[in-house]
Amino acid sequence: MINALKGIKDIFDKQAKLYEKVVRTCEEVAINYGFSFINTPHLELSKLFRRSVGESSDIVGKEMYEFVDKGQNEVCLRPEGTAGVVRAYIEHKFDKSMSVKRWFYHGSMFRYERPQKGRLREFHQFGVESFGTPSVYEDAKLIAMLNTILKKLEIQTRLKINSLGCEKCIGVFKQKFLAFVENKEGFCEDCLRRKEQNVIRILDCKNEHCQELLKNHPKLSECLCEECRQDFSLLKELLIASGISFECDERLVRGLDYYSKTAFEFESDELGAKSAVAGGGRYDRLISYLGGKQGYGVGFAIGIERLMAILELKGQKELRKGIYLCALDEAFIKELFTLSLKLQENKIVHFSHEAKKLAKHLNQADTLGAEVFLCMGEDEAQKQSLFYKNLNTKEEKLIHLKNLEQAL
Ligand code: HAM
Repeated sequence: MINALKGIKDIFDKQAKLYEKVVRTCEEVAINYGFSFINTPHLELSKLFRRSVGESSDIVGKEMYEFVDKGQNEVCLRPEGTAGVVRAYIEHKFDKSMSVKRWFYHGSMFRYERPQKGRLREFHQFGVESFGTPSVYEDAKLIAMLNTILKKLEIQTRLKINSLGCEKCIGVFKQKFLAFVENKEGFCEDCLRRKEQNVIRILDCKNEHCQELLKNHPKLSECLCEECRQDFSLLKELLIASGISFECDERLVRGLDYYSKTAFEFESDELGAKSAVAGGGRYDRLISYLGGKQGYGVGFAIGIERLMAILELKGQKELRKGIYLCALDEAFIKELFTLSLKLQENKIVHFSHEAKKLAKHLNQADTLGAEVFLCMGEDEAQKQSLFYKNLNTKEEKLIHLKNLEQAL
């Protein structure tokens, strides 16, 4: 049998419905904000991403699906959407007149990463790119748009923002930060490479020891020029006025090299470890860097599978109902039987009259879709209590029998 490659998945039935729901919601909001659809190729010249995403990024350094085609062109499957859209803006000469263009797109991106929950090798993004507008009002608008999408999907996230400053500010910061890093010993191998290629990338390192070494690092906010400082203040004011909560994160530098000024990420804890469900920022320098006329660009992209995974978990939680009541020992079954009848007067109760191991009972409770798990073993019986576990929140505690009805 020939299977799909590792980290690359078919999407059908329930998953396909979730996929459609996410894309439809994103499209509706994007259209209301004045964006129109653009479709760019999956295959591009590798140098497009080398120049834009940057040699120092993990994406270009380690994760691109690259090959030489039959015409001897070095090509790759797109690892992200922004570079291709900027290329299209320049190729169709919109840069010449600094045209205002607001485009959205969705589709496959490819990164050779280690697959895990919420991290695939072929994944899908919904992204937007806005060209021709230098004002930070556009940045605030995009953040508000992303916030609206997440609100419509009823997904709770935390917003983190930072300003990476313009070329002047980042130059000053890089010098200070390099001097700080050179004074410390013990950074990981990746950070030593980052130091040579693009030192600010060290701020992004997840290694605990490097995080420790970074304590009291020089702050980007202290290196911002007057214009960048004012822009960042206005952005914060606009978000507060729009009722969008955020936190400023001095270490948010994003994993791609093209950003300047505003950078932002929406994060969620739902998928286990903290993970970004969407991210973006301003990339004014990128247009001239890719051969166009100096211009303005800002955008973001959402990880569609990450939102689908959160919606799926939420759906499962919402469907959980009732109590699973059980015992680890035959000796307690009779007492629990009478308790189950009492609880059943106004609650859904799945009573197990078989004594089994805890793991087996938990499995059964999960299969039945119960929300609350109650169990009596010897320890609990001695204390006239029940072991309580909420299968949604994973909260565990002991509840005394006389407090049970109130606790439930
Ligand atoms: P990014 O932060 O690399 O930004 O990706 C955006 C989102 O794609 C992430 O927040 C995450 O939800 C999702 N994502 C990334 N890698 C994976 C993966 N391996 N598996 C599943 N989901 C993933 C960009 O790509 C920029 N182009 C965003 C942008 C647009 N900036 C300006 N305009």
